[in-house]
Amino acid sequence: MTQLPEGGIRIALLSLHGLIRAKDPELGRDADTGGQVKYVLELAQELGRRDDVKSVELITRQIFDDRVGPSYAQVEDRINDKAKIVRVPFGPRRYLRKEALWPFIEGFVDQLLGHFRRVGLPDVIHGHYADAGYAGAQLSRLVHVPYVFTGHSLGRVKRQRMLDAKQEASALDIQYQFSARNEAEEMALETASLVITSTAQEVQEQYEIYDHYQPDRMEVIAPGVDLSRFRPAEPGDPLPTIATRIDPFLRDPKKPMVLAVARPDDRKNIEMLVRVFGENPKMRELANLVLVLGSREDIRELPTAQRKVLMGILAIVDVYDLYGHVAYPKSHRPDDIPDLFRLAASQRGVFVNPALTEPFGLTLLEAAGSGLPVIATNDGGPRDIIANCRNGLLIDPLDPTSIDHALMRSLTEPDQWQQWSKNGMEGAHEFYSWTTHVNRYLRDVKDILAHSASPALAASSETRQARRLPDFDRLIITDLDNTLIGDDDALTEFKQMLHDSGRHIGFGIATGRHLDDAMNLIEQHGLPRPDVVASCVGTELHYGANLTPDRSWRNQIAFQWEPDKIRTLLAGIEGLFPQDEHEQSQFKISYELDAKVAPKIADLKKILREAGIRAKVVLSLGMYLDILPIRGGSDLAIRHLAYRWGFEPERLLVAGDSGNDEGMLRGGMLGVVVGNYSPELERLRKLPRIYFAQAGHARGVLEGIRYYDFLNHIVVPNDRAE
Ligand code: GLC
Ligand code: MG
Repeated sequence: MTQLPEGGIRIALLSLHGLIRAKDPELGRDADTGGQVKYVLELAQELGRRDDVKSVELITRQIFDDRVGPSYAQVEDRINDKAKIVRVPFGPRRYLRKEALWPFIEGFVDQLLGHFRRVGLPDVIHGHYADAGYAGAQLSRLVHVPYVFTGHSLGRVKRQRMLDAKQEASALDIQYQFSARNEAEEMALETASLVITSTAQEVQEQYEIYDHYQPDRMEVIAPGVDLSRFRPAEPGDPLPTIATRIDPFLRDPKKPMVLAVARPDDRKNIEMLVRVFGENPKMRELANLVLVLGSREDIRELPTAQRKVLMGILAIVDVYDLYGHVAYPKSHRPDDIPDLFRLAASQRGVFVNPALTEPFGLTLLEAAGSGLPVIATNDGGPRDIIANCRNGLLIDPLDPTSIDHALMRSLTEPDQWQQWSKNGMEGAHEFYSWTTHVNRYLRDVKDILAHSASPALAASSETRQARRLPDFDRLIITDLDNTLIGDDDALTEFKQMLHDSGRHIGFGIATGRHLDDAMNLIEQHGLPRPDVVASCVGTELHYGANLTPDRSWRNQIAFQWEPDKIRTLLAGIEGLFPQDEHEQSQFKISYELDAKVAPKIADLKKILREAGIRAKVVLSLGMYLDILPIRGGSDLAIRHLAYRWGFEPERLLVAGDSGNDEGMLRGGMLGVVVGNYSPELERLRKLPRIYFAQAGHARGVLEGIRYYDFLNHIVVPNDRAE
């Protein structure tokens, strides 16, 4: 167990998409620059104000693009004394929408490792949304820093909603990259020690449909809401301009209003509200109905869906003859809304939101802050808000009687009204401020820090002294079977190249084989002794002539590893046959797989997840299946090595032919796929820093070395992924 960090907690918030800047954030500028950007900025700002926080880095993408302007190209951008935005370049230089970022996430991971190496590791990493969720999970596994995840919106839920709206699945998956997003979210949930959501419903109805749903790690911590514009009415307040737009509709504008504010959208269910109002003559005596439904020039020219809603409402007003009792002003400005809530509160009215669904419900909090009681649909947002603030009633949006009863109570029980009004003003500030949010956030983070082992890399003395692998300044890491080995003439050329190039080039092996096995093969083929060997599919790491094991790696890899459970579970699966005993190792369980009968890889992952098992699943040559600890694999092994020895990713050239090489090929290191590659690697085709050689085996590796001019002035021609 660790002590809490001295001098306060260092927090890395990762949020990759959209346009984030400290001054004048351009919220709403595009679809990716909205709620989440505001959320992370406000969170960073509040964390930066706390004594128990040492520093906050809000890490995002560095963008060089005239279309968005120079502020997003700055490396650093201050938020306050302790909090700043840090921008890290990855992928193309230009601005990309979030769905286009997926191929570049591993590149971000490699960049950030370099950053951490320079400035030190944070105490906690917090990923936001699926893209940073995935990157943060990788980093957390690699540097063993506890991980916090906030999904913001979840891919599976969105996909389901779009399918319900009758959009075609295959088109959606291409446009929105749902499968990448889903895998990313699963990995983030699998890795996180804490998942933060805004409402209880998000936990029950959204995260619940994920394989890695772990309710005991989830915390509902509502975001802070800026209520500074929303205050109760004061005696001297002048009559606001919005009143002059409402009054002409009404016979007696002094009566309390039943107020609804919503876009003209079917799902807001406003027609139902008008019908309830029309059905009850008593309600008409007591109150006016005021509908603020956006602004319009000419109803006839609105998009069909909106026009239908508005025309429907006008028809019901006419049917029930509600003239003089219902107002629907033609337009309003954003600043009219605080005035409107205050006006409604001063007349002892009520705010009603009868939408079919309401995940959060910001307007409810704004009404609450103004002292206006609320009546709202019994759904995620309102349920939490009304449970916290006790400032009104929940209704069933499809049941007119329930709406009618709630409205009548608010209009006929003055003591109750007074209580709701008071509770709302107090509760909104108490429960929905960033100060409250951060109190709970830090309480939870401290709890995690107190219960996690200290990060091996941060503590290891080797890293602090920044010891270097002897002599060389760049390193070739290659797979053995089917990459280096398979063509003897080509191998002879490769050995010659190593011999001629001198000691500044390091030589490493990454293989699925056991260390002994690999060393025998190396000897048989007359290869030099490698400087580094990652064996058993990136679950073991050895260095130097004496093959010294990497202790920090070995100490951490067992994390959450349950080999017996895995063996038992997979014993019952068709088409899987355990490999020979001597192929199995402490951190690698291997099968031969008969693709004709065995489940698909995605389904195998699902089987493991559903059994609560955390593991990596790797398929090679379409027939070798390895199950590894989540901190194992060629990707993490090679990145660990690069981080530990302080290698820039550009100084590592990695070569492979099949699935167990995929992880190290992705990202910032210079990848070479040999010509005789196995189909699993086809998916790397369009990624940056992956060169598909024409030649096979060792000749393919040599071709890649020439392509990157790796022996001389390293160049990265395929970086121009613009
Ligand atoms: C090597 C290993 C085998 C593993 C395969 C794929 O052939 O000997 O156990 O399954 O690589 O990683
Ligand atoms: Mg191979």
